[in-house]
Amino acid sequence: MRNYENPLVTSENRMNPRSYYIPEGVSELQMLNGEWSFKYYKRDIDVKDEIADWDKIMVPSCWQLQGYDDLNYTNINYPYPVDPPYVPDDNPCGVYQREFDIKKVWGKIYFVLEGVSSCAYIYVNKEYVGFTQGSHLQAEFDITKFVTKGTNTIQVRVLKWCCGSYLEDQDFLRYNGIFRDCYILQRPKDHIEDVRILSDAEKISVDVGKEADIALLDAEENVLQLERNACNVEWKIENPILWNAEKPYLYTIKIKRNGEEIVQKTGMRSIAISEKSELLINGVPVKLHGVNHHDTDPKTGWYQTPEALVKDLRLMKELNINCIRTSHYPPTPHMIELCDEMGFYVILENDMETHGFRMRNPNEEDRYDIETGEWPCQRAEWKKEMVERMQRTVMRDKNHTSVIMWSLGNESAFGENMKEMVRFIRTQKDCRLIHSEDASRLGESDYVDVHSTMYHSLEEVEAFFKTGSKQPYFFCEYCHAMGNGPGDIYDYNELIHATPQMIGGCVWEWADHVVLDEKGVQRYGGDFQNEKTHDSNFCCDGMVFSDRSIRSGSLEVKTAYQPMVTQYENGVLTVTNRYDFTNMEDCEFTYEIQADGETIVFRTMKLAIEPHESLKLNIDVPKVEYQYGLYLNCRLYKDGKEYAVTHHKLADTPARQKSDEAAVQAVYEGENVVITGEHFRYVFSRHYGTFTSMKINGKEQLAGPMRLTAWRAPTDNDCNAQLEWGGLESYRQNGRSENLDKQFSKIYDCEIKDGRIIVKGALAGVARRPFFKYMMSVNVTKDGRIDILLEGNVHERTKYLPRLGFEFDIPESNAAFTYYGRGEGETYCDECHYATIGMYESNAEKEYVHYVRPQEHGNHIDVKMLKIGNLKFETEKTFECKVSQYSTEVLTRAQHTDELIKDGKTHVRVDYKVSGVGSNACGPFLAEKYQLNDKQICFEVEISPDEHYE
Ligand code: GAL
Ligand code: MG
Repeated sequence: MRNYENPLVTSENRMNPRSYYIPEGVSELQMLNGEWSFKYYKRDIDVKDEIADWDKIMVPSCWQLQGYDDLNYTNINYPYPVDPPYVPDDNPCGVYQREFDIKKVWGKIYFVLEGVSSCAYIYVNKEYVGFTQGSHLQAEFDITKFVTKGTNTIQVRVLKWCCGSYLEDQDFLRYNGIFRDCYILQRPKDHIEDVRILSDAEKISVDVGKEADIALLDAEENVLQLERNACNVEWKIENPILWNAEKPYLYTIKIKRNGEEIVQKTGMRSIAISEKSELLINGVPVKLHGVNHHDTDPKTGWYQTPEALVKDLRLMKELNINCIRTSHYPPTPHMIELCDEMGFYVILENDMETHGFRMRNPNEEDRYDIETGEWPCQRAEWKKEMVERMQRTVMRDKNHTSVIMWSLGNESAFGENMKEMVRFIRTQKDCRLIHSEDASRLGESDYVDVHSTMYHSLEEVEAFFKTGSKQPYFFCEYCHAMGNGPGDIYDYNELIHATPQMIGGCVWEWADHVVLDEKGVQRYGGDFQNEKTHDSNFCCDGMVFSDRSIRSGSLEVKTAYQPMVTQYENGVLTVTNRYDFTNMEDCEFTYEIQADGETIVFRTMKLAIEPHESLKLNIDVPKVEYQYGLYLNCRLYKDGKEYAVTHHKLADTPARQKSDEAAVQAVYEGENVVITGEHFRYVFSRHYGTFTSMKINGKEQLAGPMRLTAWRAPTDNDCNAQLEWGGLESYRQNGRSENLDKQFSKIYDCEIKDGRIIVKGALAGVARRPFFKYMMSVNVTKDGRIDILLEGNVHERTKYLPRLGFEFDIPESNAAFTYYGRGEGETYCDECHYATIGMYESNAEKEYVHYVRPQEHGNHIDVKMLKIGNLKFETEKTFECKVSQYSTEVLTRAQHTDELIKDGKTHVRVDYKVSGVGSNACGPFLAEKYQLNDKQICFEVEISPDEHYE
């Protein structure tokens, strides 16, 4: 047995874990980031061999992104056989080497690796120093005895896999190398090892284990307390300024010993659970508006630069996120410092996932096979390594105020080894909560403090409450943000706010994981060479894109998490402050009244509303004429940035005033019906039952026939709906799906009756009975207005439709459009709370949303008017519309953005309805209320020539 395959040998000569700090004062820090010599081998080598032909590599980095080895994205499956603790014999190996200078050896010298995957052997001046595994955990080695004054050589031999890899089966791109900072520290010989700070809402205690001068400073650097030659102190703080995620006030602790200074920040805060099972921070019930964060970057992989981390956290703040679960490992330690400073509640997770064992028991896919004892969580030989990982996690970050929960890991089942982790954490007495979704699911809730679930539907939540459990309910993962979505976060959060016992949740997940190819195209699983198993684009499930640009889903999360809600009734607006610690007078509140999208009233003011309190405002609505809608929009700004938007209808839209021009004569002309007026000439095909030409002032408006269709380019969240809808070859064959993507349109009959065109038709997928039978009446008035009435029945057994309505192509040059509806981003019936109804201008290019795998996008709901080219669409009720550079077929087929081909046309959709987007890629099936499941369809739409439009 090789020692890297022995779970009992997780390290050699590695220092005990300690709290994270970089010592200052006389102590010296020498970063070893930068260029190293590097040699990659397809299998492990004996380092005694001299390496002559070195390459160069940047550290930190993932070697797969530096041109070595193969890229691979796998979710649950291990990338090698499940034969623990063994890994493949051909185990790739990267040897890193560089020199560093020591001017004077005066103290103790350490080498620190903040992250190396999967394990490393360290040599200094050709002598063996030690070994470590645990990729996302800090490793420190005392190299004093190997170092000499002057130039020294350090070599780090990194193996792709080790037995620890069985505990690192997280759902991500599998990377290797020295992927976080590494450095040398020289410190006084008799230095402090560990620092333990415990702060609550009343006191701060510091324990450093050796005599030192310990000082407490406030945020302005005023010394509040100083204790000389103390091993530990406990200070009761008079009138403390407490820390919370909204106002993250930090005190500084300075510890001096033998010329070395250690600086740590701490915030004062308490964590508790109320009698109503609420989460209390400083005694205040708080909702966690969270997100799961992986360290991921399209260019640097698992390494996120400090700038990239700040960018992530700033953007989270802007999106009203107050909580981060560090899925599924401790992030780079600097990130937790930033969380303290910027204010986030952190659920800090152990570097632990053994999901791939689940695949060994195909009959019980959703239950972890702990009975057979084959999971590491249960087996004695894995205990040391598993518990040690938890200890290293806790020891490193125990002084961070932002950490409010420890997580035992992810998808690793729950056995004796987790119980031991819990026992260890309880000895810390740090009042943080313990989280383990495995424990909650597998009936081991006594070991944990919150009931944690993943992707539970609202019905499952209800079922939990029936059990009478008093544990706070927490979604450690919900609202799978893959592709276009999530569409369900708003409803979840309203329930969370209405239920004291629900403490919130974390969206899955923050950003898409991708790799950029030479052309800058985003690549995912299946795109790389030699992937023996992969999970396609399941890694592209972020609520922001990989470059951190945002989209409708990001804004939907922002709105569900927003700090203000309002209600409007009979001229009275009730404004509620959902901040937990901020009076709303710190913000600017505005409201506007819009008639047909025109602002007729605008007010800006400061509202002094205490956290969780409400205030009533009288709203004077002026008398005004309008055609499409009268709305009230409220917004909340802080430091010039918008944090909340709410939207209320002020009155019903008046009935439409239509011109009562008489119908014009429709005449048969070959297989067509032709209708002509002063400015227009329309051709309606009796064969296809649709318009094939619309000329206004001699200008052709159509670039192809109008079609009645039901298909949309599937979103990632449509993956299960597709079993019903079609587009998946296997299901086409076994007869389950409607095959809506291969649609046939049948016209049984098309005639002129009483001056109207009457069409009887049906739509059906290939090899299926019709899913929709309809009658359509078309009437054209003298001024060229076309009144379409579509009435039909959807088949009993058709579950629900992606959408239903007209699709047509128009000339590419007519790409600009105006609409009165919900915008300006894309909106779906369940992904719309961030958007307001108004008058918007856009164009086909602007409507495109660059999802990693191209899919349905760019829809607008609540539309009352669409003007494009010389055509104007209106309805009595509302319709949905979409304008795109790409056809549905192209969008359906393309798997990457470079496969999208423009065909010289603008593609328009005018729909009766479009189904919601949900989050079913991993979350529950789309809620019924968001499905287009109407059985009787009645869709009225008018098209009028808009002659003034250029
Ligand atoms: C969860 C898992 C995450 C991720 C997600 C799907 O089950 O905890 O790591 O795989 O599913 O994107
Ligand atoms: Mg997993």
